[in-house]
Amino acid sequence: MSVRIAPSVLAADIAYLADEVARAEAGGCDAFHLDIMDGHFVPNLSFGPAMAKTLRRLTNLPLDVHLMVDNPRDMIGPFIDAGSDYLTIHVEVAADTDALIADIAGRGVVPGLSLKPDTSVEALEPYLADVGLVLVMSVYPGFGGQAFIEDSYDRIRALAELARAVNPSLILSVDGGVTMDNAPKLVDAGANFLVAGTALFRDHRAEENVRTMRSRLDGR
Ligand code: DX5
Ligand code: ZN
Repeated sequence: MSVRIAPSVLAADIAYLADEVARAEAGGCDAFHLDIMDGHFVPNLSFGPAMAKTLRRLTNLPLDVHLMVDNPRDMIGPFIDAGSDYLTIHVEVAADTDALIADIAGRGVVPGLSLKPDTSVEALEPYLADVGLVLVMSVYPGFGGQAFIEDSYDRIRALAELARAVNPSLILSVDGGVTMDNAPKLVDAGANFLVAGTALFRDHRAEENVRTMRSRLDGR
């Protein structure tokens, strides 16, 4: 499976959302990433299920929903009803991570698990066989446009290694500060799903930007 590119809607110009989505699709992106922030788990607010529903109307590509919220339990239903294809929770929040993963999978959606930059990758180990996607945060979550944290390469390598034995088809996603320059290195470290906001929606040129990122991956 070749590497997937998922533009993060947080960086889109929401005044022209339909155009932004169409341009990214024309460039050949593979999914759209939607950040859900509750103002508690992260110091910012973003979108709710209504935005996921809107996005669902604008594209047939998979919706990759990233729940940065303290109470994912209450949010799983509304975001699945809104049309999520991948639904990712954070390992830091849930006492019942196993149950939430099973709940998401039981509803026919791919469960994902994410971790903040300061959380040890071993925290994900018990769940690797049961999730379809792991999302490595390569910035402190909450805002787009931040600089990539360099030790994320090692974290991706470590997770790829941990996953190899228990879940070889795991989607290994990276989110935050992904650029044209670091994209190929991230893939070489083991990522196969690149989430990028600023780099792809920059200058209202999502079509060209997605194409450029794809060409930088050079067949990877
Ligand atoms: C950060 C979000 C990211 C963000 C990435 O909390 O999870 O998805 O949109 O934005 P860039 O690519 O601009 O770092
Ligand atoms: Zn995200």
